[in-house]
Amino acid sequence: MKWKWLGLWWYHFVLLRITIEGQTRYSIPEEVKRGSVVGNLAKDLGLGLSDILDRKLRVASEAGEQYFSVDAGKGELVVNDRIDREALCGQSTSCILPLQVVIEDPLQLHRIEVEIRDINDNSPNFLSNEISLYIAESAAVGTRFPLESAGDPDVGSNSLKSYTLSKNDCFSLKIKEIEGGKAAPELFLEKTLDREKTSVHKILLTALDGGNPVRSGTTQITITVLDINDNFPVFEKNLYKISLGEKSLKGIVIIKPRATDADEGSNGEVEFSFAPRTPPSVLSAFDIHLLTGEITLKGDLDYETVKSYDIDVIAKDKGSPQMEGHCRVQVDVTDFNDNAPEIVFTSQPKPVREDAPSGTVVALISAKDLDSGDNGKVTLHLAKGPPFNLKPSFSNNYALVTSGTLDRESASEYNIEITATDSGTPQLSSTKTIHVSITDVNDNPPSFSQSSYNVYLKENGLPGSILYSVSASDLDSGENAKISYSILDSKVQDVSVSSYVYINSDNGSIYSMHSFDYEKLKVFQIQVQAKDQGSPSLSSNATVHVFILDQNDNTPAVIYPSSAALGSLSHQRMPRSAKAGHLVTKVTAVDADSGHNAWISYRLAEATDASLFTVNQYTGEVRTKRAVYEQDDSSQRLLIEIKDDGQPVQSATATVSILLEDGLHEPILDLRHKMSEPSKKTGRITLYLILSLASVSVLSLVTFLILAVKCIRGSRSSGSCCMRRSDCDDYKNPNRNLQIQLNTDGPIKYVEVLGGDMISQSQSFRSCMSPMSEYSDFTLIKPSSTTDFKEVISVLDASLPDSTWTFESQQVSSKNSSYSVHTFVYWLASG
Ligand SMILES: *[C@@H]1O[C@H](CO)[C@@H](O)[C@H](O)[C@H]1NC(C)=O
Ligand SMILES: *[C@@H]1O[C@H](CO)[C@@H](O)[C@H](O)[C@H]1NC(C)=O
Repeated sequence: MKWKWLGLWWYHFVLLRITIEGQTRYSIPEEVKRGSVVGNLAKDLGLGLSDILDRKLRVASEAGEQYFSVDAGKGELVVNDRIDREALCGQSTSCILPLQVVIEDPLQLHRIEVEIRDINDNSPNFLSNEISLYIAESAAVGTRFPLESAGDPDVGSNSLKSYTLSKNDCFSLKIKEIEGGKAAPELFLEKTLDREKTSVHKILLTALDGGNPVRSGTTQITITVLDINDNFPVFEKNLYKISLGEKSLKGIVIIKPRATDADEGSNGEVEFSFAPRTPPSVLSAFDIHLLTGEITLKGDLDYETVKSYDIDVIAKDKGSPQMEGHCRVQVDVTDFNDNAPEIVFTSQPKPVREDAPSGTVVALISAKDLDSGDNGKVTLHLAKGPPFNLKPSFSNNYALVTSGTLDRESASEYNIEITATDSGTPQLSSTKTIHVSITDVNDNPPSFSQSSYNVYLKENGLPGSILYSVSASDLDSGENAKISYSILDSKVQDVSVSSYVYINSDNGSIYSMHSFDYEKLKVFQIQVQAKDQGSPSLSSNATVHVFILDQNDNTPAVIYPSSAALGSLSHQRMPRSAKAGHLVTKVTAVDADSGHNAWISYRLAEATDASLFTVNQYTGEVRTKRAVYEQDDSSQRLLIEIKDDGQPVQSATATVSILLEDGLHEPILDLRHKMSEPSKKTGRITLYLILSLASVSVLSLVTFLILAVKCIRGSRSSGSCCMRRSDCDDYKNPNRNLQIQLNTDGPIKYVEVLGGDMISQSQSFRSCMSPMSEYSDFTLIKPSSTTDFKEVISVLDASLPDSTWTFESQQVSSKNSSYSVHTFVYWLASG
């Protein structure tokens, strides 16, 4: 098109120059309206209006297109079509359309030119509306990125003049001059890109022309920032702290640390792991999920082993190079009361002496609990009962001490239960038993089964036989309870008791060392001692009363009438005038035994005339049964049997010769007369008797007074005198005392022998006991007709050779008669 127009133009130019001289030129702007008048062609060509019509004036375009036409009526050249300068002339600065004006008749040819002036009817224009750029984050500052230039068909000032860029921090616009005076826009990187901040930049590039008004064209530049791995994964926190109970279940997720990577794609894909050189303790207890970072518990936690774990976690992206971030997870294990307290015996318990004072340390105990805090706070308790206490010393250490008096005899050992309890929840406890034995101390004396023993022993026993066995026990143990027996020395009848008995020191059996004679020794006592082997040893005493039992080992001894002369009968005289019931004589016998063994009875065994005499069974009195007849023999003989009541019976006989005399009055033995006879022996006896009487009387009086005083005092303080009977007793005196009563104011008709015991005793009883209960017997002594006292003595001497005799007579002078007090005391019950 262009070239065609250019060719045409050249043709017209040459032709017109040659053929046409004066050339007409019009100038119009492009894009005028159709019908717009370009110029008055008729006038300019010098033609009249009629010529135009007549000569058929017409306009022909050399190019063929008819942009113009001639208005025949007015002769004006008008625009026939839209004229686009850019279409006709392109970018050439001048645009002239040559026209041929042809007039017929005659044919004339005129040439005119229409200059088309440019108007700014085109905007600058980019080839595409959008430009996409991809720039790496790492692009250096100052880097230029060429942009597409815009085009503008207008020319001159209406053509493209400048570019502008919408505001952007990172980019600016630079214009690069290129050959031909053209300018090319370029993007200039003002500062480093950060994809993470702005991943896409959208910039509007505007091209402006120089027209008036200015026209512009734009294009959208989209810059995508390409990621590079310039960010490391970042954890939300540097340090995560969590607490985990030591009994937590395996498999639970304990924490999920989050890490983000600002990069994208694989540069931002994070994988989690434990740091290298993570200790095995962590590895065995925890697991981490590669992708999610969840840390799970896989092992058992034990607060007592590890109280806290520090886990270093790494988050790595997948970029190249890989970048990593770190964080630390601190897992504090919280204590769970999973350990029961433990009781430890720091020292083994020692045996304790039973006399240990309260507070004596028996053992040292400590308590442990592996837990901590309240879970590890241990308290110890003792079971109630045993007299022990726990005394706390420094931290969880205790001393087991006694808290009271101990007595091995009531409890020889203790099993003390100790309970340890912690203060945790749930509370745990444990118990332990400690064995404490109590050692013996000699604190118990041996004790006899009885405080006193009564032993009854028949007289005449075999020496060396067991008399009795005492026994004592001791509550202590071992040597402290080992008892040895002994007999404490004392005197029995002025002889050491050790000559009577001995004791088996091991088992307390007491043996007699000789046989006993009741008649000499009725009772004695032994002090027995039991002694243990402790240190110091303890002892206790017991009394053994040994009572000798009487055996009937003595025959009755006839005291009167005396048969000392052996055969020569003693003669009793009686008057024939005596009436029935006359007391002829009295047979007197004694028996050294006692009780039934000494209970004497008399019986007339033989008589010259049994009808004349009778013997009183109990008193031995011989009386006449009837009056004496003339024909009765003057010499009568009686055989009297005397028996005791013992088992077996012992008996004796006495023969009484009686002489019946005529005209004989009651014969009276004048003792004083007889005594005054110059008989050596009689005189001496009389003297003894007097001395005895006097001394006994005085002694009795004194004793009586003393006892009376004592008794009054005693009764004031302790009531009855009888309570003090033992004080009064004097059975230590082993001597057998016989009282012989005889009347002293005439010839001895008979002798009364009182086979009782000692005077002192009877006196004691009398003085101590009330008169109502006295065992006393009053016997009136009557004058005897014929008897020599010498014979009495000799009989006594003969029949009781071992005895010591005491004669006693008490006289009540006022009544001319005497009475005697005698007392039989049966010490021993016959049963
Ligand atoms: C004591 O020992 C003696 C001698 O061994 C023995 O004969 C006696 O029977 C014992 N007495 C007791 C009570 O065991
Ligand atoms: C036992 O008797 C002895 C001698 O009489 C005496 O020394 C001792 O103290 C008595 N022991 C006791 C426990 O009474």
